[in-house]
Amino acid sequence: MCTLKTIVFDHFKELSSKTNGPEFKTYDAFPPVVTTKANFDDLLVPADHPSRSYSDTFYVTSDIILRPHTSAHQTQLLRQGDMAFLVAGDCYRRDEIDASHYPIFHQMEGVKVFDPKDLSSDPAVAEKQVMDDLKASLEGVATKLFGQRNMRWIDAYFPFTHPSAELEVEYNGKWLEVLGCGKIHHKIMENVGLGDRQGWAFGIGLERLAMALFDVPDIRLFWSDDPRFLNQFQAGKITKFVPFSKYPMTSRDVSFWYDPEKFHDNDFFAIVREAAGDCVENVQKVEEFVHPKTKRCSKLFRINYRSLERTLQTEEVNVWQENVRRVLSQQPGIELR
Ligand code: PHE
Repeated sequence: MCTLKTIVFDHFKELSSKTNGPEFKTYDAFPPVVTTKANFDDLLVPADHPSRSYSDTFYVTSDIILRPHTSAHQTQLLRQGDMAFLVAGDCYRRDEIDASHYPIFHQMEGVKVFDPKDLSSDPAVAEKQVMDDLKASLEGVATKLFGQRNMRWIDAYFPFTHPSAELEVEYNGKWLEVLGCGKIHHKIMENVGLGDRQGWAFGIGLERLAMALFDVPDIRLFWSDDPRFLNQFQAGKITKFVPFSKYPMTSRDVSFWYDPEKFHDNDFFAIVREAAGDCVENVQKVEEFVHPKTKRCSKLFRINYRSLERTLQTEEVNVWQENVRRVLSQQPGIELR
């Protein structure tokens, strides 16, 4: 993550000196605990947006959360007068359990506010200037990371930018989503006291890029302290991971009745991570049905256990599976089957 962060930080440093543009201030040590105001309200995230729910975001209290994205710091920095900045940090989301999702991941945010002198007085032209500058800067970042590749821009939606876009890069025959971005919503600019200015913002998820660039097949490896993983990499260099042999997988099923009003799949995934830890490689939903007479809802999940570092013992898997069942049975509306 540090290698990628450095490449992006350096790219923007170089860009500012080449274009005589503003210098990007860099931040990478903001604590991940933020307010719902900074993370949602200030970014115009609607009250009913799914990202606000307890099943998507980790709440500390009703108005304090673990940041689900680095955009949480945007308005605070704009208010304090930063006109160009990069923020890197750890982010937290409740999500499914598989090779590319982990509750902690890293993002980098970039923001640039333009001096009105440098933009056309015609708002439509100015908007195009901002978007063109954004796209050129980001295509430059993507080229630094991936080399010369086919790239495409896709229309996107974010509550805090308008217009919004996503950049995809063709990599190993597939289109890989690299980042989201857009022109900062004019209401945000007004709210931070910069109503006469325009600016752009982008957000990059670092693990997804690192998995592609370094050929890392499982996101949990980034948390491994196995020397067979760590010794393959050098700071500042992008090199390919040579996989070591995998240990056997052990699968266990759990099925239960639940109340769809009270229980979300992400609640199940959170329980599994909590009760069984990092030796869960993925969780698959095998079956889901509504009982035709009683209308009760049932789900069957398969938990696939595998350590990256050793062969798991049956007894320890049994303990984790029992933990999952116990915690699950204590949830409102849940009955194990
Ligand atoms: N915060 C967005 C995300 O996490 C990314 C983004 C940042 C989009 C800034 C637009 C502008 O998906």
